[in-house]
Parts: sequence; structure tokens; C-alpha cells
Amino acid sequence: MITPIILCGGSGTRLWPLSRKSYPKQFSRLIGDTTLFQASAGRLAGPGTAPPVIVTTDSFRFIVTEQLAEIGVTPGAVLIEPEGRDTAAAVLAGVMHVAETDPEATVLVAPSDHLIPETDAFARAVESAARAAAEGRIVTFGIAPDRPETGYGYLALGQQPDPADPQAPLPLEGFVEKPDAERAEALVADGRHLWNSGIFVFRVDTILAAFAEHAPALPEAVGAALAGAKRDLGFTRLAAEPWAAIEPISIDYAVMEKASNLAVVPFAGRWSDLGDWTAVWRETQADGVATSGAATAIDCTDTLLRSENPRQTLVGIGLDDIVAVAMPDAVLVAHKSRSQDVKKAVSTLKTKG
Ligand code: GDD
Ligand code: MG
Repeated sequence: MITPIILCGGSGTRLWPLSRKSYPKQFSRLIGDTTLFQASAGRLAGPGTAPPVIVTTDSFRFIVTEQLAEIGVTPGAVLIEPEGRDTAAAVLAGVMHVAETDPEATVLVAPSDHLIPETDAFARAVESAARAAAEGRIVTFGIAPDRPETGYGYLALGQQPDPADPQAPLPLEGFVEKPDAERAEALVADGRHLWNSGIFVFRVDTILAAFAEHAPALPEAVGAALAGAKRDLGFTRLAAEPWAAIEPISIDYAVMEKASNLAVVPFAGRWSDLGDWTAVWRETQADGVATSGAATAIDCTDTLLRSENPRQTLVGIGLDDIVAVAMPDAVLVAHKSRSQDVKKAVSTLKTKG
């Protein structure tokens, strides 16, 4: 039995204006009929899994319970972080909560904002990962890279996948989180690296030992926040004081780059971290053009046009490499190559007040 731990505390600023501080991308219907959060929870619900543990922040707690109810999933727990402290603390809170009832439980940590359309391939990859996790490995899911992306972690393979069993777990030689552009080019070119998908499977005792070795202050603080937690309407509110003292750090920097007992399951299905509008364009385009809602493209190439307001028609004519997203109260128009800079718009607007 695997217990999913689903992280949904991020704010997804590069997908502004669809993704908002009060209603970020994981809770929006970005692609298809369900939200990314619902798709993540649904993918992990089933006979082989326990009810999921959700780690989120105060402002999203009712969105979480409402969206789970819509898809018929009852959470095992909803942990509320007093404020975001990045993924190491969020993962640890979930892990230590699960360990309270089963100190040898196997957990699957998943972000809530990825697109993984091939559910069967994913389920087989999880089974394969659970086997390696049972042997005390920290298991990552690897994706074959197709560009030198600098926003991802890279997994160094000790051996190439076996064509007869492509999703069998392989030992990992190393983990490089978010390399600079030059290093990313080299990692993709050498054919020995996969992207880290950000999904992990491990036994709770394995990861607690890794934290104790590589980042011992974290389990101490998170343990105190859990010990002082208050129950409130079915939510578990972590204690604010020990939580505030936590240094924000991602699990990738805190543990993955340092641990030696890593394994990877090469994931054979499609995967996308829908991190920016270029990624959404890539996943939804047909013949280079992606339109949705009340949007129409005439003679456009490599362009995404999206209107979330049925009363506001958006028309693009003769555009090349453009993203335009219209919400009832805000419109973004940008060169597609500048998708990463959309987060700058959010910080600029914030300082303007
Ligand atoms: N609860 C909670 N609290 N969730 C958080 C927090 C937090 O403080 N910070 C981030 N998250 C959630 C995000 O919502 C997202 O679902 C997930 O944790 C991962 O965080 P990101 O901030 O999106 O990480 P990243 O994209 O920069 O990098 C990670 O994912 C890449 C693949 O998408 C790393 O694991 C990379 O190595 C990996 O390649
Ligand atoms: Mg991400």
C-alpha cells in the first residue's frame, strides 16, 4: 500500500493571468475538464493506494476539499502550512505525519501541477518504483530530455535503460538541480541524463534517515510543528512558531543532490511540468496554433490565444510566436520566447500595488 503525499502550496506565477495568488494554476482547468490538482489526486487514487495526504496553505484549504469532493476522493489528512517553506519542509510534514501511524510506510510524493496523460504507464512506473523503494532506495522518475531546460533537476544514469524492461529501476550516479544553461546543454548532449520529474517514491524511514544525515535541522523543526499542530474542521494546522524558524529549501537541494541511495524509474509516458505558457502551448497546439475559449487565430503560427471570458472574443491575425491570454480582469500579450518572464509581470504589478 502506497500513501500519496500531494504538494499544492505553490503559486505558479509564470502562468499569470490565469494562475493567481488566490487561485493558482494547479486548481484551474488549464487543460481538459478536471483541474491539474484533481488529475493528480485521481491518478493516485485506487485499490493499491491509501487516502492521500495533502500539504497546502491556509488560503487553498477549502479549494482542496471542494475539488477532492468533486472527484470522490476523501483525503487521509490535509496539513496546513502556516506559510510556504519550500518543498523539503512540505514533504517532511507529510512524511512525518504518515510515519506516526506506520514508521515503514511507502509514500509517493507528487506535485499537483503536472500533466501525465498516460495513466496506465504511470501506474506501472509506480509499481516498479515501489519495488526499489522497498529495498531502501529513494526513487525518482526520469524523463528523457528534449531540450536544455534550466528549470529542472537532472539525473545521472549509471547504466542505460534495458529495452526489454524500460521502466525497471536503475541506480543513479548523481543528481544536479537546476544547472545553468551551459551545463544543461552538456547534460542533454551526453545522453546519460534524464530530467527529474519531481515525483518521488520512498519508505518514510529511508527519507527520514537521509534528512537526518544531510539536513538534520529540518526534521527537528517540522517534528515540533507537527507535535504542536491543532485540528480545525478536519484540517491539521502546523504550529506557526517552529515552522517560522525553518529555512526555505527544496527537497532537491536539501537531500537529492547529496544522497547516495538514489534510483530512477525511467518514465515511458508523456510528462509535462506545465510551468509556463510555452509548455501549455506545446501540449495543446495543433499545427503550431493553440486556441481555447473565445479565441480565434487567423493566419497565425506558433501562437497561443486563450480567452477565459465567454463574453470577450480574442482574435489574432498574422501572429508568430505570441502568447495572449485574456481573463475578465487582465490580459497578457507576450512573445512566446519570454514566457519565463511572466513572473516579472507579477512582481512588477505587486510593487505597483
Ligand atoms: N505545500 C507546499 N508548500 N507545496 C509547495 C511549496 C511549499 O512551500 N513549494 C512548492 N510546492 C509545490 C508546488 O506547488 C509544486 O507542485 C511542487 O511543490 C514543486 O515545486 P516547484 O517550485 O514547482 O519546483 P520546481 O518546478 O522549481 O522544481 C522541481 O520540479 C521539477 C519538475 O517539475 C524539482 O523537483 C526539479 O528537480 C524538477 O525537475
Ligand atoms: Mg514546478
